[in-house]
Amino acid sequence: HRDRSTEEKTIPFAEQESWEDYQTGKAKLMFGSKDQRKLSDSYEFVFDDQIDFIKESVMDGDQFHEQDIANSLVEKYKAKCNLEALQEERKKLPIYNYRDELLKAIHDHQVLVIVGETGSGKTTQIPQYLHEAGYTKRGKIACTQPRRVAALSIAARVSREMGVKLGHEVGYSIRFEDCTSERTLLKYMTDGMLLRELLSEPDLSSYSVVMVDEAHERTLSTDILFGLVKDIARFRPNFKLLISSATLDAEKFSDYFDSAPIFKIPGRRYPVEIHHTKAPEADYLDAAVVTALQIHVTQPPGNILVFLTGQEEIETVEEMLKHRISGLGTKIAELIICPIYANLPTELQAKIFVPTPKGARKVVVATNIAETSLTIDGIKYVIDTGFCKMKSYNPRTGTESLLITPISKASAKQRAGRSGRTGPGKCFRLYTADSYHRELDNNTVPEIQRTNLANVVLSLKCLGINDLLHFDFMDPPPVGALLKAVELLYALGALNKLGQLTKVGRSMAELPLDPMSSKAIVASDKYKCSDDMISIAAMLFVGNSIFHRPKEKKVHADNARSNFHAGNVGDHIALLKVYNSWKETDYSSQWCYENYVQVRSMKRARDIRDQLAGRLERIEIELTSNANDLDAIKKSIISGYFPHSAQLRINGSYRTVKNRLTVHIHPSSGMAQLLPRWIIYHELVLTTKEYMRQVTELKPEWLVEIAPHYYQLKDVEDSVCKRCLKDMHRSLRPRLILVSTVSKFSFVCTQI
Ligand code: CDP
Ligand code: MG
Repeated sequence: HRDRSTEEKTIPFAEQESWEDYQTGKAKLMFGSKDQRKLSDSYEFVFDDQIDFIKESVMDGDQFHEQDIANSLVEKYKAKCNLEALQEERKKLPIYNYRDELLKAIHDHQVLVIVGETGSGKTTQIPQYLHEAGYTKRGKIACTQPRRVAALSIAARVSREMGVKLGHEVGYSIRFEDCTSERTLLKYMTDGMLLRELLSEPDLSSYSVVMVDEAHERTLSTDILFGLVKDIARFRPNFKLLISSATLDAEKFSDYFDSAPIFKIPGRRYPVEIHHTKAPEADYLDAAVVTALQIHVTQPPGNILVFLTGQEEIETVEEMLKHRISGLGTKIAELIICPIYANLPTELQAKIFVPTPKGARKVVVATNIAETSLTIDGIKYVIDTGFCKMKSYNPRTGTESLLITPISKASAKQRAGRSGRTGPGKCFRLYTADSYHRELDNNTVPEIQRTNLANVVLSLKCLGINDLLHFDFMDPPPVGALLKAVELLYALGALNKLGQLTKVGRSMAELPLDPMSSKAIVASDKYKCSDDMISIAAMLFVGNSIFHRPKEKKVHADNARSNFHAGNVGDHIALLKVYNSWKETDYSSQWCYENYVQVRSMKRARDIRDQLAGRLERIEIELTSNANDLDAIKKSIISGYFPHSAQLRINGSYRTVKNRLTVHIHPSSGMAQLLPRWIIYHELVLTTKEYMRQVTELKPEWLVEIAPHYYQLKDVEDSVCKRCLKDMHRSLRPRLILVSTVSKFSFVCTQI
């Protein structure tokens, strides 16, 4: 692991001016200085994403060898970056034979449901066909994806197929990352981003076609989009709507969209042999590792795809594989391990698409991101653990948790199918055939029925949709969840008593965050600390990847971290201190290494912060910093997060004030040892216990002061009464009369 923070760092780049040289094998690699790195436009034409990839990995101190990357890039481009070869490849896709028929169907019908196996070419080809057929003369073409990674990698692929620079004619838009320009015609975007665009362009008039892709995933945003674009199609006759899906039960989509015709693209499918375990596996991670190694050692060439539930598991399996491979000696072939999950930094994601060198085998360790939305070539073996991480929501308590849940039969079939795309495949299910038949549900419950709806309700209100109960949902959400969302938005001041959007609500909707964070930012105007609050919000958004805690240096890392907690300021302010200290060193990477802070996360936080600052301008909130008045900052946080308050109990656990849940401070919190009496938390995570993450101490009377409509005196009574009254006795004797005459404590507090 080399130190890459110095300026003189060299990176590999090509000597030649044109990419043709690569094909003829003339290209040589050399190492250039940073200045030389300013590559000509002709490079960017095909190489820009890879150049970024190299730059980032060199700058960010990853454990990459420049030479390795360079070599694999040359390999890749020798094989792939030839436009003509790419055009030939396009013609080989199953969808190509149906091009004209498909275009005719789109011409003849306003709404079309398109079904085809993963890998048949729907996502990459249909927008290009539409462009070739002239649809882009009337407006842009949007193609929505449930996942950021998919939007990004597909846009990169399509820009190469069209021979244009990514961000020009073909671009992508994901939260906090807009890679489009005036000239963008094909826009790959997350479904959530299109939803946001609807807020400023309710009729999507700049689009001629919207393709809601991966519709079978039924994400919350996709489900809401359905209702909205269906409506747009009714009053914009020349607007085309395509709903595309990888699974065959498309009738439901057709029914919903007023019996829209279904266009089926027959797939190329090879047989897949399915193996179940004979007995249930006690430890599916271990079983996955053993199976992967068995395949590697005994089976003919072909890459392996392992489905796990999340980043942590993926990292564990990566470690285990590396460890055991090293124990097997040098006789066995090389095994290249490629992790892939939604939060994996963009430049590392590219690794899964780099072709496997001859003689080696690749094992892709993925979340269910690889189930349908990413096509990874050359997969012959699938290992299916049978689980995924799924969000579930309890409308009674308003808590959301990510739980490891068995997948559905539909998912299991999709996973198995990933091995039979380029030839006969094998799928190893780490569960019994009996479990498959008896325990797995047929289909996954759509997200809208198991999530917090506050953000969606806010967006719909902004679009003027007030009657939520009668919104045209494909599958309606539980009424309890809708009411809970309205209740929260009312408490936050985003809706008035009649359920109408307020000015605060409108400002909140401008911010691309969840309603509680948005409210904290909007409220920071009052406390003159908006500058501090957007830094905190950005850091919270980046989440748990800020601090780096390498196994062998835990003590050092913890020491570095405790510096930011000096004065027991709480986790929120500690995050602010981290950000500000980094800023003071002029965003130095060296500073990050020394303080065990992840450079990449910090850069992301800075990007997000910058965008939030831009938004503040739009909602006319001035940037003001009040970093010395910690109470002001805390009050501003409480203005958004007051529903997340908890009180210490005698046994060291906490109880949430509103819902009376038993919770604990997460061990990673700076407050974990201190156990303050009253706290506010950012989020609850359920692991072995219900843990609160990002915790800050508060004074209970603040709750009544800031959210008098939500908390009454009795909620915070036990300590507040005695202490507050004592304080009042002491310092505010003349006003004490008020306390006895005015029953509302809030009034007293605000008066004082
Ligand atoms: O959408 P669908 O699953 O039908 O297929 P697609 O995503 O359009 O993929 C068609 C082909 O494009 C795949 O078989 C891959 O070979 C290629 N592709 C790629 O190389 N890199 C990507 N990021 C996406 C697709
Ligand atoms: Mg697709």
